[in-house]
Order: sequence, then C-alpha cells, then structure tokens
Amino acid sequence: MNPIYQRIYEHAKPYLRTRKNLIHTKIALGYVLELLKREKGKEDGVIPAVLLHDVGWKTIPEKLHLTAFGPNPSNPKLARVHEVEGAKIAGIILEKLHYPPKKVKEICQIIRGHDSRKRPLSQNDRMVKDADKLTRYSQKGMAIDLDRFHIPRREYLVFLEAIIDDWFLTPTGKGIARKEILLRKKGHRLRG
Ligand SMILES: [Fe+2]
Ligand SMILES: [Fe+2]
Repeated sequence: MNPIYQRIYEHAKPYLRTRKNLIHTKIALGYVLELLKREKGKEDGVIPAVLLHDVGWKTIPEKLHLTAFGPNPSNPKLARVHEVEGAKIAGIILEKLHYPPKKVKEICQIIRGHDSRKRPLSQNDRMVKDADKLTRYSQKGMAIDLDRFHIPRREYLVFLEAIIDDWFLTPTGKGIARKEILLRKKGHRLRG
C-alpha cells in the first residue's frame, strides 16, 4: 500500500479512538481493498475516504453515540454532525499532508454524506458506502453491533441478509455480503 495512506491513518487515529472506530476502520479498509480488486474505482480517492470517514464521531460526546445511530435512534441529527464535522477534519488532515486539492475536495464530499446520502455521487462513493456497510457483516463488526444493540443474533442475521440487495451499490459488495452472511450463519449453527 502507498505510504501516504499509512500517514493518513496515523493522523486519523486520534479521532478514531471512540465508538470502536479504530477496528471499524481497519475492517472497512480490508473490504475496500477487496472491492478495488474487482470494481472500477480510484484508490487515491477511495482509500483515504474510508480511513477518514468516521473521524467526526470524536466531536460527539460518547454518551450520546447510541442516541445517534442503531435500530431506533432518538437523536438521528447527531449522525449528520459526524458526517459534516468528519469532512472538516478530513480536509484539515489531507491538506496538512499536501494531498492533491482536487482529491481532497472529492474525499470530503464523500465523507459529508457517507451515511445520509441516498444517491451515490460516483463509483468511488459507492465503494466507500459498501465497505462501510460490509463491516456489519464481518465477524468482529457483527459481534460489536450485537453487543451494542442487544439484538438476538438470529434476528440480526435475517435482517442483514434481507437488506443486501437494497443496501449494497456494487455487485462485488453484494457478493461479499452474501458470502459473509453464509459464514456467520455457519458460525451460528456451530455455536448451537
Ligand atoms: Fe459513519
Ligand atoms: Fe463507518
């Protein structure tokens, strides 16, 4: 991987130490690298956007996080704050690292609507959205969500499987999600 991405990650780290976002970001990075192998996207836009997409959570007090997202958020406006503030922080980090200004603009736009924007802006945007959602299908990501939302595992698996076609924006994203669901189901059966 290009060393600039490591530098971006180092700068993102202090902002990601909340809401288990360090692990979330690492998982999303793994998925976006998979997506980049099979989808046409530009890594110099997609990778920094994934690394920085959730830095904005650091601006929101931890005790309010669970009111902002999840099955029944009581304060969903806060989720918007993490996008807007995250885009600002990402811009500052990327400018400090002399990242190309055109790319900085694109990355910040992606981050500003990574959860709330229904219509993707570009293929790069689709890939960032898919990588972010795929984290919920990973073993670790799912364990975090089950613990966080207190949902029965069986119920959550049914929900995640049913929403694949609506949620994922790239064929590769859908394919990975289906594969992961099969693995999680298998794990579920083994656990009894
Ligand atoms: Fe987010
Ligand atoms: Fe995220």
